[in-house]
Amino acid sequence: MSTRRHHLALLAAAALAAGGAMAQSDTVKIGVILPMTGPSASTGRQIDAAIKLWLAQNGVRAGGRKVEVLVKDDAGVADTTRRLAQELVVNDKVVALAGFGLTPLALATAPIATQSKTPMLVMAAATSSITEASPYIVRSSFTLPQAAVSIAEWAAKNKVKKVVTLVTDYGPGNDAEKFFVSQFQLNGGNVLDKLRTPLRGADFAPVLQKVRDLAPDALFVFLPSGQGAQFMKQFGERGLDKAGIRLIATGDVTDDDQLNDMGDVALGVVTSHHYSAAHPSAMNRKFVADFQAAAKFRPNFMAVGGWDGMRVIFKALDTTKGAGGDALLAAMKGQLFESPRGQVLIDAQTRDIVQDIYIRKVERKDGQLYNVEFDVQKSVKDPGKLK
Ligand code: DHB
Repeated sequence: MSTRRHHLALLAAAALAAGGAMAQSDTVKIGVILPMTGPSASTGRQIDAAIKLWLAQNGVRAGGRKVEVLVKDDAGVADTTRRLAQELVVNDKVVALAGFGLTPLALATAPIATQSKTPMLVMAAATSSITEASPYIVRSSFTLPQAAVSIAEWAAKNKVKKVVTLVTDYGPGNDAEKFFVSQFQLNGGNVLDKLRTPLRGADFAPVLQKVRDLAPDALFVFLPSGQGAQFMKQFGERGLDKAGIRLIATGDVTDDDQLNDMGDVALGVVTSHHYSAAHPSAMNRKFVADFQAAAKFRPNFMAVGGWDGMRVIFKALDTTKGAGGDALLAAMKGQLFESPRGQVLIDAQTRDIVQDIYIRKVERKDGQLYNVEFDVQKSVKDPGKLK
């Protein structure tokens, strides 16, 4: 048998096991794959801490079973994610896969979820099309179209007439650029140029020089979590703030993981996103306090995706009494609950998250920098799926 066909046979056997023999065992396993090392390590660190907090708060039992969470490091390399997912399904017989810190890592794993009928909870990656890559994918993070449309509308209504866009050149960047530009133009705005930087080893100096020369009213930016601080530093060093070019972005840029170290250049930056550590609800205040006490750093939007993702899996295991496969997937769909970010829904049709999107401004509060929410669009479905 070819290696590939052998893999397919193993995955099919795992799919049968998910519905049958597994139901006898007292322990169920969840396989979490995260970039714990490499350029996206902050995403892994945030989600890992959120998972640990969730387990400490809620216990390790669901549906009458003990739940074991296996966390694996893919270092942000898609071939590694795929291999780890295969091992978790075939050898460890996990009932669900979770994590996925970057879009290519989620896309690489989608066929394994489909072939083995294993629900796959995407806690971080945010390209709109990911949920269409497998009927077993459910998402607890967000989509870039959700975030980009709201900031485009805000800009057009707030004296921003000419914009340059700057995004990282891969899935979520494509989505951010496309949905920002179309919404901004629909509202009468003018896009002077669309710039891109590579995912790995981005140096922002050349593109920032170009932006300076184009002299727009505002620069719209999407960068993945972890790159915001370096970008902000170069934005300040090139004097773009002093040149009167406003910075607007998705909240990935003023990421709570790095925001507090960005300094005065970040003050006043307006972004749109689904989560801020400063979200003023009782549930979020408790979430942030408990998270900081346990992890010793501030939770960001990745952490909330991980914490809510655990909720989705555990509630579904309660419903299925620990069974996996199609039953577990069905029990994930349609979950409606209060999250530290506000009310969220796992849309039963799209398996994607429906949530409030906030417009926020960076302000200093009690000596610390925060994304302070000042406007909200309620219950936003992924615009990428309304085509
Ligand atoms: C993705 C990664 C990020 O760090 C982020 O902030 C948004 C999207 C992604 O690869 O999908």
